[in-house]
Amino acid sequence: MAQKKPASHTANQPQIDPQSGLVMAEGYNMVAAHCSACHSPSLITQNAMSRERWLETIRWMQNTQKLWPLGDAEPLILDYLATWYGPKTQSRRPPLAPHLLPKP
Ligand code: HEC
Repeated sequence: MAQKKPASHTANQPQIDPQSGLVMAEGYNMVAAHCSACHSPSLITQNAMSRERWLETIRWMQNTQKLWPLGDAEPLILDYLATWYGPKTQSRRPPLAPHLLPKP
């Protein structure tokens, strides 16, 4: 599939939480709560996946890494991931310095 150039709307750029490196948008609280317990959220921010691939990753963690069921939060978490860490938003974010990442 051809990659489209990301639209540049600098005025509209979402805020990034300096602690986690995650975009602070709808669903952020849930992702921060559920997804930074076992590993650094940089595993999320360095990824770019479709909704289906994010779901597969979650299922994989549930099946093999003891990730708990996400219940009602799951669709919201998937929306957030696919919106901000989907294939098309790739590499518009500045990388986060490793020393800014929280310790596991
Ligand atoms: C119960 C522990 C646990 C929780 C909670 C958890 N993960 Fe993971 N996750 C893991 C482990 C273990 C790995 C493998 C880490 C490694 O290889 O270093 C992993 C790996 C990943 C990867 C990398 C997968 C790959 O193929 O490279 C991503 C992306 C990821 N997790 C996203 C998430 C998201 C999104 C959430 C919240 C829904 C989440 N994780 C919550 C345990 C967890």
